[in-house]
Amino acid sequence: MLHAIASRKNLAANDYYMPVADILEHSRFQHLKDYRHHIRTTRFQHSVNVSYYSYRVCKRFRWDAVSAARAGLLHDFYFYETHGSSHSSETKQTAHLSSHPVLALSNAKKSFSLTEKESDCIVHHMWPFVRQKPHSKEGIVIAIVDKCVAVLEFCALHQKNKNH
Ligand SMILES: [Fe+2]
Ligand SMILES: [Fe+2]
Repeated sequence: MLHAIASRKNLAANDYYMPVADILEHSRFQHLKDYRHHIRTTRFQHSVNVSYYSYRVCKRFRWDAVSAARAGLLHDFYFYETHGSSHSSETKQTAHLSSHPVLALSNAKKSFSLTEKESDCIVHHMWPFVRQKPHSKEGIVIAIVDKCVAVLEFCALHQKNKNH
């Protein structure tokens, strides 16, 4: 069953699902299940977490929830391991901060059609760790939700470790 972290809702039976079904069901996007993210989750699950909560926040404020959901899914659309690999040295981690959004956007454009706003949300999602800020409200939401979700994912890992 598809769900977001800290939620029991079945996303496949939620209003969230339809506008992003083409991305979620795409074989290239499914491939993100093969990559770890924030140590214990997968990049697929992290992307769903960011997408779903960005969608909910934007919907609540009557902003562009569909763009937030689609860009949220594709914000980390890259295919290499970031932990326990050559990308784990400090210098490479710093380079990764600014390079992976550009790579994610380039990969996303090869498989999906994106609006200008969605592209901007993806390429600037590492704000405020990098200087360039997203140009839309939806982009700001994605950037903030991305960091909050990362904290939740690390807390879930900590909780799992305590229970073992
Ligand atoms: Fe990222
Ligand atoms: Fe992320």
